[in-house]
Amino acid sequence: MRLFVAVDLPGPARRAVAAEQRRIAAALGRSSVRWVPPSQVHLTLVFLGDVEETSVPALVGAISRDVGTPPFDMVLAGIGVFPARGAPRAVWVGAGDGTLAPLQKDMAERVVGMGIPLEERPFHPHLTLGRWRAARASDRVRAMAAARPGTVARVRVDHATLYESRFSPERGEGPVYTALARANLTGISA
Ligand code: 2AM
Repeated sequence: MRLFVAVDLPGPARRAVAAEQRRIAAALGRSSVRWVPPSQVHLTLVFLGDVEETSVPALVGAISRDVGTPPFDMVLAGIGVFPARGAPRAVWVGAGDGTLAPLQKDMAERVVGMGIPLEERPFHPHLTLGRWRAARASDRVRAMAAARPGTVARVRVDHATLYESRFSPERGEGPVYTALARANLTGISA
């Protein structure tokens, strides 16, 4: 099963993200971007990749434990594209300013503790807004030109979710995400 742990967004942040998608889409004009449905936009903390089904119950147990730290605010701001050079593949909004690091570390340690190895890539907190099927060279400049300074949304982070991602032929090209476990942040602020 293909799994990841993510922070998902409450309604107001989803609406702000949808508005950002519309703005970038307008700046791009006719383009091959497949926009992520706002209901599915999320921030991946840990990407597990393919996990044996036999490992999943223990993993669900590990992720279901409460997090001892208190809920915190995460700021969504700044538009970017991956990769840094050449034809763009994905357009995203950035997240956090270090506030996510302890939660990300906690979730990664739980996963590694279950014997699931993780990629060594540095954590680059982002929420993918859309992906190009076939990008033009000019798309990078156009997408970046739509970027506005300032905050897109402020999100209260009070849980993280373990998701399964499946590709369903009925839904065309888009993945279907199913929540398998939830880690609640239950610490009390000083
Ligand atoms: P992306 O939005 O940058 O593509 C479900 O696919 C989630 O897992 C997405 O948030 C996706 O990030 C992330 N993901 C997919 N492959 C990944 C990888 N190799 N490393 C880190 N995250 C990945």
